[in-house]
This record gives sequence, structure tokens and C-alpha cells, in this order.
Amino acid sequence: MSVTAVVGAQWGDEGKGRIVDYLAQRASLVIRFQGGANAGHTVENEHGVFKLHLIPSGIFNPNTRCLLGAGTAVDPLELCSELDQLKKASIDVSNLIICSRAHMVMPYHKLIDLYEERFRGKQKIGTTVKGIGPCYADKSARNGFRISDLFTMDTLAFRQRLEHILKVKAAYLQALGSQTEGSENSPLEDLLNIDNIIAQLQSTAEELLPRIVDSMTLVREAIEYKEHILLEGQLGVMKDLDWGTYPNVTSSNPTSAGAFSGAGVPPQYLSDVVGVVKAYSTSVGSGAMPTELFDADGESLRDIGREYGATTGRPRRCGWFDAVAVRYANWLNGFTTLAITKLDVLDTFDELKICSGYKNKKGEVYKEMPEMHLLDDFEPVYETWPGWKTPTTQARTWDELPKNARNYLKRISDLVGVPFRYVSVGPERTQIVVLDTLGVG
Ligand code: GDP
Ligand code: IMO
Ligand code: MG
Repeated sequence: MSVTAVVGAQWGDEGKGRIVDYLAQRASLVIRFQGGANAGHTVENEHGVFKLHLIPSGIFNPNTRCLLGAGTAVDPLELCSELDQLKKASIDVSNLIICSRAHMVMPYHKLIDLYEERFRGKQKIGTTVKGIGPCYADKSARNGFRISDLFTMDTLAFRQRLEHILKVKAAYLQALGSQTEGSENSPLEDLLNIDNIIAQLQSTAEELLPRIVDSMTLVREAIEYKEHILLEGQLGVMKDLDWGTYPNVTSSNPTSAGAFSGAGVPPQYLSDVVGVVKAYSTSVGSGAMPTELFDADGESLRDIGREYGATTGRPRRCGWFDAVAVRYANWLNGFTTLAITKLDVLDTFDELKICSGYKNKKGEVYKEMPEMHLLDDFEPVYETWPGWKTPTTQARTWDELPKNARNYLKRISDLVGVPFRYVSVGPERTQIVVLDTLGVG
């Protein structure tokens, strides 16, 4: 039996989908435990190339049940369109199930996300505008709807509750809209019309209602039957609600700690935590990113790594590997191993840099992450490592990797303090080097 959490150790987009797709070949249950359609998890395998937003990346194994856990924010309309796309590609989606406790991203949550971003002006977070923040805000304020509410949407009680909430939303949106420069006069009355909203939800019922389950029993039984379970995270530590670059963060906890409540798994059953890291750094949206590059190397990382958001298409900010940030991620997650992705993107560089510490204005060097609001006062301290100038995409064993690449990987592992077991050398499922169970480092 093993329960393995697969979580992002940087700013998101580390390649979690790619690693989960690989590991799910021998998993019987994959649980997404937080976030919603803000995720863009790219999977490339024998079925094609897919950008998954809500559906767990284990969906390509027909023997794997894929659960959207209690901690997720599920947009029923987005989920239906994602299911349609997969069906069109002849993927069997019958194993997709949803925890009845998962919260629903309502149509007005996306609207509020958009209006709030405009209202923030220069201080905008750069959200994905998928309604994630407003959905979790309503959940905490106890004004949310859960996916199980789809069963009662034809009742008077549901209508009355929604009517009540819509009044507040209308007033809030009007306040935001009237103070927002350049906001077009959206027909708010239509967008917030209760019949329209209920009709939209009803259009998802046939597809979604049969998939709603009480996940507690299901997960408990899977653990009792000693099944192999994966807990799939969304985003990464540096955008964690509590530990990330607040306020430029998401509204949930993408750490292994978040996995316990988001998936409904007690801590003592977690056997492994795989920290997924890119061999360099990227981030989308606002917020501190100490190793961000504004030069030709940054451009090369973006071009070679095709660093454009899987959900929004925005160019990702690119920089060198930041060992301080990943050490911080390790403390918060308790990684048992790293999965290092996109090594091949570095194949053509003459030399590479690794940030091993942060220096303040007095020249004092820190090895640990300072308080996030102080990050702008620090600059990275770099080590320089020679490149390998050899393609790695065909490597399938440790020995097939060039010596300089092996040294670079070992140094990353040394600085972070965690061994690595997986080295990804391409986006396709088979482009991976898997080390022995002990890993290296
Ligand atoms: P996620 O959100 O963590 O699942 O990551 P994304 O899918 O948003 O971004 C990772 C991107 O890198 C995707 O386009 C993947 O296809 C791609 N990718 C993953 N692993 C590798 C790798 O080892 N090499 C290359 N070149 N691309 C990779
Ligand atoms: P995956 O799972 C990268 C970023 C947004 C923004 C902040 C808050 O593919 O790694 P939100 O829409 O969550 O309120 O936006 O978080 N963000 C992501 N960046 N990958 C993601 O998901 C992201 N999900 C959210 O750009 O800075
Ligand atoms: Mg992504």
C-alpha cells in the first residue's frame, strides 16, 4: 500500500501533470485535492497532448479512478466541456468522480474574479480569472454551494438561498464596476439572472450527478484494501495561501498538508511526497520571484521550454533554479524525493546558474527564505555550473546522462537536501530517467 502526494515545489507549472500521468500507470486512485480550473496540467502520452484543468492526470489509465476531492473548487460548466474534449479524443472518462463536499465555482465567481482584478489596477494579482478566489472566499464565509447542491437545484430552498446570495453579489459587482476605469457596461442583470444561472447548472446535471460520491468511504476503503493512491496537487508552494508570496497567491494550500484535508486522507497513511521541480524556475502572474531573468538567458528558457501558461497562454516569467525556494518547499512539504523536470531545456546552455542563497543590502547572505514581504530587498547569490551541450532527450538511465548534467542534478539535490528519483528529459510519458529506489543525492 502506498499513498503518494505529488506536489509543486516552486511557482506552479513544474510538470506535475506529466509526473502524475507517469505514476498513475500503476495507481488505482488519483485524487486532486485543491484548486480548480486554474490548473493547466499538460500530459503527453500515446493518446496525444492534453491540457487538463480539473480532471486529474490519472484519467488516461482506464483502471484508475480519478476523484475531485473535497478541497477542490469545481466549475460544473468547465468540467463538462473538459469531459467533452476528452471524450472526443476517445478517452474513457467513466472513472471520473466528484466528492459531494467539493465546492462549486458559480458563474458569478468568475465575474467577481474579473472585476476584482480590474479594480486592483496596478496591484492586480494576475489570477487565471477562473473564479477560484471568490469561490474559496464564499466557502470560508459559508456562502458557498457544494457540488451536492446540484441534487437540490430544482427546490425552492435552493432558489431562495441563491436569490439571497445573488442580491449581495449584484451590489458588490456594481460597486466594483462603477469604480473600475474602462469597465464595459456588462449586462449584469443577465449574468446574475437566477433563471439563467439555474439553467446553466441544470445543463450539467445529466453528466455530473451520476459522478457525485461520498468520497470518505471510498478513500477509506482504498486505503484499507492497500491500493496505490496518488494525491495530485495544483500550483506550487510559492503561491500557497499561507506560505506563498501573499497577496499574490492562490486561495488554497497546494502543500502535502493541504492534501490531508483536501483528499480526506489521515496523515499517518502518507508514505511518499514527491516534490516536482523544474530544473530552472518559472512563474505566472505577479509576486516576488528572486531569480527572474530579464536577459537573453531568460528569453532562451522561455523559447526552448515553451514557457507559456497552459490555462491562460500568458508568457511565463523565467529564471535560474532557486535552491532557497525549493528548500523552503521541502520544509513545508516533507519531500521524500524530488522529480526534476525539463532537464533537456538546459541542453544548449554554455553555463548554468543555481541560486544558493539570498543577499540583503548589507551584503549578508541567507540560506533560508526570509519573510515573503521582505523578498524584494534581497538578491540571489549564484553558483555557476558548466553546461553539457549534449541532447538528453534520449537518455533513459542515469549513466546515459552527460557528466555535467549529473553534477548539476546532484548539486540541486545537495542544496535542497532531498534525493531525486525521477529526471524528466522531455514532455512525453516515456522520456524519463527513473533511478533506483534510493535515488541519488
Ligand atoms: P503542471 O501544471 O505542473 O502540470 O505543468 P504544466 O503542464 O503547466 O507545464 C509544464 C510544461 O512542460 C508542459 O508543457 C509539459 O508538457 C512540459 N514538460 C514536462 N516535463 C518536461 C520535460 O522534461 N521536458 C520538456 N521539454 N517539457 C516538459
Ligand atoms: P498549475 O496547477 C501557474 C497563479 C496565477 C496567479 C495566482 C492566483 O498548472 O501549476 P488564481 O487563479 O489561482 O486565483 O491565481 O496563481 N496560478 C498559477 N500559476 N500554474 C497554475 O496551476 C496556477 N494556478 C494559479 O497566475 O498568479
Ligand atoms: Mg500548469
